[in-house]
Amino acid sequence: MIKNICCIGAGYVGGPTMAIIAQKCPGIKVTVVDLNEKRIADWNDPNVENIPIYEPGLSDVVAEARGRNLFFSTEVDKAIEEAEMIFISVNTPTKTYGVGKGMAADLKYIELCARQIARVAKTNKIVVEKSTLPVRTASAIKSILDHTGNGVQFQILSNPEFLAEGTAVEDLLAPDRVLIGGDSSEEGQKAIQALVDIYANWVPKEQILTTNVWSSELSKLTANAFLAQRVSSINAMSELCERTGADVNEVARAIGMDSRIGPKFLKSSVGFGGSCFQKDILNLVYIAKSYGLNEVADYWEQVIIMNDHQKRRFAKNIIKTLYNTVSGKKIAFLGWAFKKDTNDTRESAAIYVADDLLSEQAHIAVYDPKVSENQIYFDLNYLESRSELENKKGLEVLTDPYEVCKDAHAIAVLTEWDEFKTYDWQKIYNQMQKPAFVFDGRNLLNKKELEQIGFVYQAIGS
Ligand code: NAD
Ligand code: UGA
Repeated sequence: MIKNICCIGAGYVGGPTMAIIAQKCPGIKVTVVDLNEKRIADWNDPNVENIPIYEPGLSDVVAEARGRNLFFSTEVDKAIEEAEMIFISVNTPTKTYGVGKGMAADLKYIELCARQIARVAKTNKIVVEKSTLPVRTASAIKSILDHTGNGVQFQILSNPEFLAEGTAVEDLLAPDRVLIGGDSSEEGQKAIQALVDIYANWVPKEQILTTNVWSSELSKLTANAFLAQRVSSINAMSELCERTGADVNEVARAIGMDSRIGPKFLKSSVGFGGSCFQKDILNLVYIAKSYGLNEVADYWEQVIIMNDHQKRRFAKNIIKTLYNTVSGKKIAFLGWAFKKDTNDTRESAAIYVADDLLSEQAHIAVYDPKVSENQIYFDLNYLESRSELENKKGLEVLTDPYEVCKDAHAIAVLTEWDEFKTYDWQKIYNQMQKPAFVFDGRNLLNKKELEQIGFVYQAIGS
């Protein structure tokens, strides 16, 4: 029986997953460690509403378990030493240098964790890959761990995480499945069972799937590739709908009722964002290429090409509709996060749309209910399209959505926050330049209502 768990990485995955394990397994001590002192301090903030990740329901879970059997710490060595099971939940971004730049997953943080575990461990450990990794990473981790020379036995499991941001708590409490990959040896099977026993505290046994390590690693990349592919598929259709008089929402409903296709993940949008879809597909493309499977690589790369096109054409359409110039015009952005109910902005379509419009000298005003001003400038500056000063001049961040829309020539809806639907749209209209345009990148607002008020309303795919 496992009594002591450590998780390396207190991010969007490590924090919520460990909070739920701690909540559901009060007999297990769970310590989440991170090198980032600020992040750990925020997880320990006496006011639980200040934890660093916004997820509906998460602060209640943390409030229940923190200090009881859930701990956040920067003492990585100590937590590794104490634990019988160590989850690695660090970031695995796309490489920005060297071989595989812009495609392969950067595994340096994973390797650092493996080396640290190898250095510190004095008793046998089960090491669990929670991060999303290229298929066959477990063999690299094992090779590092097995060469420590201090006689400690390690078992490596793959246990990829399928939660989506914004619904992390819900997804963790009632996952469609939990996937655990491990070695077929007796020791491997024992390690798998130890992890199954933890999840079995709240997940029905039939939903806990065990496989070999490689299937588990590859299933995670495959799941994300299939999900992203659905969004790119419906987005490809949205452009055709706009040319032909078909309505993408009607098409999505019509095909989604076919039980073989299913209704979920068919919402046309300004393009998918988030830290994982693009990175994981690029990684998949890189892996396929490295085995010489060029057709496989090209097939999946098209999902990204389509997504880039969708973001770009949204910006182009704004420019074209505003009489081919947005220079000096105020464009209001409602939303910056990559989806609703999260403060995460990684790869958000809003960043790229803003970048394109700033290059056309638009003036952008942004409102997002959960994203900070600092984060928005950080995202834009990261692109290095222009100087930080120019970004500051071209874009302002306000905390009042009505101020953001005031005197604007157009509003662009970039995130599907529920509150946008409840605004006083007549009041917004009255304060805008005329004609008042709305470009709804999420098909969120009520077209009829807005057109009755007098807006020129354009959605995606109709
Ligand atoms: P994140 O960037 O939010 O968190 C990773 C954390 O790891 C950071 O706080 C970083 O400081 C810490 N870290 C890095 N190296 C470390 C080290 N050597 N020692 C201690 N701490 C270290 O990342 P995330 O969004 O939580 O993603 C983590 C992994 O989970 C990625 O592989 C990602 O693909 C995968 N994943 C993410 C999601 C999601 O919704 N974000 C969902 C499923 C899977
Ligand atoms: C996604 C997967 O859904 C998770 O299963 C996975 O664990 C995670 O990636 C990961 O590996 O990081 P996430 O990116 O948090 O989760 O959120 P999604 O709900 O998948 O949305 C991703 C993007 O696609 C968002 O920008 C969203 O707005 C967009 N999207 C989603 C659409 O445009 N249309 C849809 O129908 C669905």
